[in-house]
Amino acid sequence: MGKGDPVRNSLLRKFQEVFGRPAAWWVQAPGRVNLIGEHTDYNDGFVFPAAIDRYIQMAVAPRDGREIRAYSADFGEMSTFPLEDPPHVATASWSNYLRGVAVQFRRRGIPMKGMDVALSGTVPVGAGLSSSAALEVATAEALRVVAGVELDRVETALLCQAAEREFVGVQCGIMDQFVSVLAEPGTALFIDCRDLSYRTVPLADGVSLVVCDSKVQRKLESSAYNQRRRECEEATAALRRVLPDIRALRDITTEQLETYRSLLSDVLYRRARHVVTENERVLRAVELLGRGNLEAFGSLLYASHMSLRQDYEVSCRELDVLVELAGRVSGTLGARMTGAGFGGCTVNLVRDTAVEEFRTAVTEGYREATGMDCAVYVCRPSGGVLSERL
Ligand code: GLA
Repeated sequence: MGKGDPVRNSLLRKFQEVFGRPAAWWVQAPGRVNLIGEHTDYNDGFVFPAAIDRYIQMAVAPRDGREIRAYSADFGEMSTFPLEDPPHVATASWSNYLRGVAVQFRRRGIPMKGMDVALSGTVPVGAGLSSSAALEVATAEALRVVAGVELDRVETALLCQAAEREFVGVQCGIMDQFVSVLAEPGTALFIDCRDLSYRTVPLADGVSLVVCDSKVQRKLESSAYNQRRRECEEATAALRRVLPDIRALRDITTEQLETYRSLLSDVLYRRARHVVTENERVLRAVELLGRGNLEAFGSLLYASHMSLRQDYEVSCRELDVLVELAGRVSGTLGARMTGAGFGGCTVNLVRDTAVEEFRTAVTEGYREATGMDCAVYVCRPSGGVLSERL
């Protein structure tokens, strides 16, 4: 975000070119990679993501009138809409994320002012690294600073999640928006998605977070994401007949699940087993990372992948190939698919000394197995959203 940053300088120039005046604010919100705790957030469970040093960036200035003019430098496209009741659009569909956030400000009675925005991103789109959450969070921060209001950080994350669910139509959990707002540099964020308590855990020295993009594009809305959510609700409802106090799969132990297995169809049982065991893995993983036991932490990543693959059925062949190739490199401590699945990325914990070997082995192996090129990003755990007056 420093003044010498070429991405920043070019976006500030673009703002000037498009709007004929300089920007007044700089805003950036990070994408994320989830270390462990997949498909647990909407089950009131635990997650352990880190924000990454890839961002949605915005150059912003207030303007008279009740409109937002937003220019996407990546798409070379302008979208203008009213602060009050902006319609959902099919062209410039990236602007729906901004529109959705404005709708939530209005609904909560948070003051807004008109603004001009030029935006661009270094979070790959549609790769499962939460470019959409980053876009929502950056929009909320831009609206906040332009109107000069205070907003609680957890409230900001909830507002952005509501924008995604109500305006974009993905029934997502809270993880992505939460970490994009509240992350701190050098750490991962352990979140209890029931009471939204959280704490940072430093990532160990000597290991890198490596993200491999399968380049298989996901489409959350059209995917089985919402269906998985419904299956979890059905499993909870069936188990509630014998366990009336449970509110979500978070409240079930593995013993209870085994005891009442006959109440569930095979599919619902496996979905529930993933969630229940994944919550256990997250708690254990956070403890192991805290104690610096990276080998044991890494094995939990592999176990998580197997569970997502077999029980939750959200992996795909390309992600399985990436995990398998990663496991063959001796400096890899753990690997798994990350995010919603059905394509997108894997997250890998790799010893610093093995990163180049990893890159070559996985890139070449993937090409051989699939005929496709993957992308490999070595990520640094980043801080959450920030803004700067220019
Ligand atoms: C997407 C959603 C999150 C979470 C993950 C799966 O990223 O936005 O809320 O459910 O999938 O863990």
